[in-house]
Amino acid sequence: MAQSYPMVSGDGAHSYAKNSTLQRRVVDAAKELIYEAISDKLDLKLLKFDASNTFQIADLGCSIGPNTFIAVQNIIEAVELKLLQPDHQNLSSMEFQVLFNDHYDNDFNTLFKSLPHSRKYFAAGVPGSFHNRLFPKATLHFVHSSYSLHWLSKVPKELVDQNSPLWNKESARRRRFVKEVAEAYSGQFKNDMESFLNARAQELVPGGLMVITIHAIPDGIPFSQTGPGVLADVLGSCLVDLAKMVRINRSPQIFIFLGGIVFTT
Ligand SMILES: C[S@@+](CC[C@H](N)C(=O)[O-])C[C@H]1O[C@@H](n2cnc3c(N)ncnc32)[C@H](O)[C@@H]1O
Repeated sequence: MAQSYPMVSGDGAHSYAKNSTLQRRVVDAAKELIYEAISDKLDLKLLKFDASNTFQIADLGCSIGPNTFIAVQNIIEAVELKLLQPDHQNLSSMEFQVLFNDHYDNDFNTLFKSLPHSRKYFAAGVPGSFHNRLFPKATLHFVHSSYSLHWLSKVPKELVDQNSPLWNKESARRRRFVKEVAEAYSGQFKNDMESFLNARAQELVPGGLMVITIHAIPDGIPFSQTGPGVLADVLGSCLVDLAKMVRINRSPQIFIFLGGIVFTT
């Protein structure tokens, strides 16, 4: 099974459900883009539907809510708006199914318990890594993923090999090898994206649409000058201090992923 680091389960004070306003803002910011994409690029007349005219939506890396519910609601509203056009009358009986995906150890119980009562769609959970095939061939009409695809499937192997020059012994950030470390991460990201896109290429119906919102840095801006970069530096120096004070043990190792950087103690 793929490595996974599930969001904090349940609906307590420290749960993801109560601590995901940053990700909520991303969903809100993407709403207009999703409306535009569906209005301009999704040709409902070209899409193949089963006998029940069901429009299949998958949300990949959905976590436990509530953001995923807002995102799928936005998608459904945009499709419904399109269905009002006179040339789509034959599709007016369309139903919606939403396939909520995340890793096996995601808290699907909380997700299902908090499904909106007023929802206009059938819901199902699909456990597994989105770096692999998750759905039958040519069955999805719309694939959505927000704030999830920058999760790598694993730490690049060069960084966890104690014999590699990139193995971090002294500092939480591998300052001497910044370029090589960045290359190791970008190589892993490239492989992961390739697997992701290959899987979706088979699962989407011809003419289907995919909207991905992803954590990214504009070209030319060093990671250290971004919000997560500043946070990474602070957290890194705290870990080094703790290690020096022998407050944390060097064995076993602690891995902390932040904005694509792995810290090891
Ligand atoms: C920050 S949460 C975002 C959740 C939700 N999309 C939102 O906007 O609130 C990222 C989610 O991606 C999931 N994830 C990361 N890698 C994944 C993978 N390979 N397959 C499926 N889910 C994955 C994590 O388990 C986590 O629940």
